[in-house]
Amino acid sequence: MKSIFLELYRSTIEDILENDHLHDMKNYIQHRDLSCMEHSIFVSYNSYLVCKRLHCDEIAAARGGLLHDFFLYDWHKERRSEKLHGFAHPEIALENAKSHFDLSEIEEDIILKHMWPLTLNKIPKYKESLVVSLVDKYCTTIELISPKTRNKIKKLAHSISQK
Ligand SMILES: [Fe+2]
Ligand SMILES: [Fe+2]
Repeated sequence: MKSIFLELYRSTIEDILENDHLHDMKNYIQHRDLSCMEHSIFVSYNSYLVCKRLHCDEIAAARGGLLHDFFLYDWHKERRSEKLHGFAHPEIALENAKSHFDLSEIEEDIILKHMWPLTLNKIPKYKESLVVSLVDKYCTTIELISPKTRNKIKKLAHSISQK
């Protein structure tokens, strides 16, 4: 049985999950053997939980978190910009997200600013953007060092993303 938090979380992103373009993220590896989709669900769910705890906009955090790496290319093999992937992909992800989904101002800020402080001049404007940026770094670290957690993330992502 899924937890109540997981059910509530899923309901906040249900319409995005119904869009086939989102599932294109399954085709691209993000960290180790995790796809961009698996990484993004992990970031999105944890950002949702943190924002719920902090009484800020957990729905924007879940939705922006889910789309923060919606850049749709294999960054290990190709470049889509003059800039290095770390600097370029937030803008590419935002452009892709805007072409398929209606985003709130907070969700746009989350996607565009999630690489801060690497992208020095793109300082998070909202609490939710800062949360997603920090959660992204935390999740990335865990994904890189813990095979056990990667297996848990795969199970979580599977239960969330199956249609
Ligand atoms: Fe990213
Ligand atoms: Fe990320």
